[in-house]
Amino acid sequence: MSARIAIMTSAPGWHGRRLARAFAALGVETRFVALGDCRVDLEANRYGIVVPSFKTTLPDGVFVREIAAGTFEQVTFRLAVLHALAEWGVPVYNSARAIERTVDKSMTSMLLRKAGIATPGTWVSEQNAAARTALIRETARSHRLVLKPLFGSQGRGLQRLGAGDALPAAADYAGVYYLQRFVESEGGDARDYRVFVVGGRAVAAMVRRGSDWVHNVAQGARCEAAPLTEDLREVAERAVRAIGLDHAGVDLMRAHDGLPVVIEVNGIPAWQGLQSVSPVDIAAQLAEDFVRRRLAPASKAVP
Ligand SMILES: Nc1ncnc2c1ncn2[C@@H]1O[C@H](COP(=O)(O)OP(=O)(O)O)[C@@H](O)[C@H]1O
Ligand SMILES: [Mg+2]
Repeated sequence: MSARIAIMTSAPGWHGRRLARAFAALGVETRFVALGDCRVDLEANRYGIVVPSFKTTLPDGVFVREIAAGTFEQVTFRLAVLHALAEWGVPVYNSARAIERTVDKSMTSMLLRKAGIATPGTWVSEQNAAARTALIRETARSHRLVLKPLFGSQGRGLQRLGAGDALPAAADYAGVYYLQRFVESEGGDARDYRVFVVGGRAVAAMVRRGSDWVHNVAQGARCEAAPLTEDLREVAERAVRAIGLDHAGVDLMRAHDGLPVVIEVNGIPAWQGLQSVSPVDIAAQLAEDFVRRRLAPASKAVP
């Protein structure tokens, strides 16, 4: 019997179609499942977990494309379902633990530091006074800071703060200030880099150029093909290893000295923009890595 996996998303779209086709090419069936539709029912089957489309069995694997926003309880429950599936030996790609470590930008920063990976100075606090002290000290040294939502994505909610700027109320940032030193682009050339890593290996890179300083594709940045230089590859692969991800999109910039620094790591990365400028079939890379490294070994393990 061929393997059947769940692609967790409530909106399959372009990425879902690409993945489904790539898995089909490897003989793996896919079903789209909204994580929020999964249930616990201890009477329903021996696992006590009901994944729609899989009735009394569990999927042979799970590819996480989305964890939809929700209340603290909803998101915790959705992650619990992923954790529990892993407890039963179902390969979850990326694991719930790895996703947790990237959704929370403070955790990513701490792990990057522990692994000795270059990332800009970062200050995270619930306290207005601590955040203000960092802002005053940094701006006195002619640095600017970027204030980010701790769980942000797609370039939403970012503010750049310079000398004399007031710190917003903590409540505007869900009670946590995440401040990162602004990386002034080399020669004022505004851009950043996205490196896509699959199975521990960087497979594609691009340059993103926004009209302002936020270079997310979701904010209208232009994607340009970029060579996967050795230094970008090395830093991105180390960052992904430090966090423990199967696959990731790593955002990097080059500081004044030209050396790459990691801005953030995405555990549920989109790749439509990157695919438009990269010759590498990214969905195929993902499906092949998932099957070879995670699905095939697990097929002997699920009870
Ligand atoms: N410290 C920084 N210095 C310069 N630009 C930054 C910095 N942090 C973020 N940016 C810009 O904002 C974009 C979005 O920030 P990022 O941390 O990746 O958050 P998101 O999760 O919203 O993508 C980055 O891709 C980069 O263009
Ligand atoms: Mg980003």
